[in-house]
Amino acid sequence: MTDTQTLEKDILAGIAAAADEAALEAVRVAALGKKGTISELLKTLGAMSPDERKVNGPAFNGLRDRVQQAIAAKKSELEAAALNARLASERVDITLPVRPEAMGSVHPVSQVLDEVVAIFADLGFAVAEGPDIEFDDYNFTKLNTPPDHPARQMQDTFYMVPQADGSRHVLRTQTSAVQVRTMLVEKPPIRIISPGRTYRCDSDATHSPMFHQIEGLVVDETTHLGHLKWTLEEFLKAFFEIDNVELRARPSYFPFTEPSLEWDMRCDRSGGQIKFGTGNDWLEIFGSGMVNPRVLENCGIDSSKFQGYAFGGGIDRLAMLKYGIPDIRSFFESDLRWLRAYGFAALDIPTLDGGLSR
Ligand code: DAH
Repeated sequence: MTDTQTLEKDILAGIAAAADEAALEAVRVAALGKKGTISELLKTLGAMSPDERKVNGPAFNGLRDRVQQAIAAKKSELEAAALNARLASERVDITLPVRPEAMGSVHPVSQVLDEVVAIFADLGFAVAEGPDIEFDDYNFTKLNTPPDHPARQMQDTFYMVPQADGSRHVLRTQTSAVQVRTMLVEKPPIRIISPGRTYRCDSDATHSPMFHQIEGLVVDETTHLGHLKWTLEEFLKAFFEIDNVELRARPSYFPFTEPSLEWDMRCDRSGGQIKFGTGNDWLEIFGSGMVNPRVLENCGIDSSKFQGYAFGGGIDRLAMLKYGIPDIRSFFESDLRWLRAYGFAALDIPTLDGGLSR
C-alpha cells in the first residue's frame, strides 16, 4: 500500500469513528485544515517535475475529494441522529387523558326550556319570541287589560321611566304579550309557543322577581277547549315522562280569555316526594282559556270567523317539579355547587326519540 493509500485509509477510519460533530470537525482539520495532512500533501505538488505532477496531481486531488465527500456524508448522518435524539426527548405525549371533570353544565331552566320546545315542536308548534322590555299596550291593553282595569293589580309590574309621550314601557309580566306580537303580524292558522323571561315585583321560595313562563296560542276556525285539554295532556305526559296524566279544570278569570280555566294535575304528595297520575292531591299547572274575542279584534283578527285557545305557566315551576328543586331563588344565585348538583351535561340535547332528561 502506498503512503497516500495508508493516509486515506486512516482518515476514512477516523471519519467513520467520529461519534459527534466535534470529533468529525477534528478529523477534518487534521486532514484538510491549513496544516492538515492532505493540505501538506497538495503543497508538495508545486515542487514536483511536470511528469510527477501528472501522476500525483489527480491522485492527491482525488484523495481530497473523497475525504471531503466522506466528511459531508458523515456530517449529515450525525445531524440526522442528533435531530432524532432531540425529537425523541422532546416528544409531547398526546395520549394523556383529558381532564376527568367537565367544567360547565346546562342550567335546569335551560334544560327544561329545551325539553318544552322539543315537545311542542313535535306537536306542530312554532317558537315565537318577544322582548323583555315590552309596550304596556302589548303586555296589558291589547290583552283586554286597559290602564284602569282591576286585573292590573293581579300582577306587580315593574314600570320603566315614562317616554316623552307619557307612555311607560314595562318589564313584561307575562309571555302573553307575545300573543299580541304574533297576531299583529301573522294570519290564522296560528300555532305558537313562546317561552321566555318575565318579571314581577315578588320574591319568596316560590316567586322570583325574574322568572320564566311558557305561553301557548292556537288560532284557527274550529279550535276548541277539547283540543286544549288534549294538547296539555300530551305535553305533560311527554314532559314528566309518564303514561297517565289526569287533569281537572277549574273556572278562573283572565282578562284575555273567555271562558278562562285553570288546570290541575292529579298527584300524590304523601311520601315526601311528588308522584303524578295517582293520589288525592291536585297541583296547579297552567292557566288557560279560549282567546277573548276582544283580544283577537285588538290584534286585527276577525273574531266572527276565528277562535282559539291560549295557555300559560311557569317554566321554573315545571323544572322544580320535575327535578325536585325546592326553592326557586336557588335558580338565580349562580352557586356553582348547586349547578354541579342540578346541572345537565352540555352535549346532552333533549329530544323526544333520544330521551328528554337522560
Ligand atoms: N299570563 C298568565 C299569568 O301570567 C298565564 C296565562 C293564563 C296565560 C291564561 C294564558 C292564559 O295564555 O290563557 O298568570
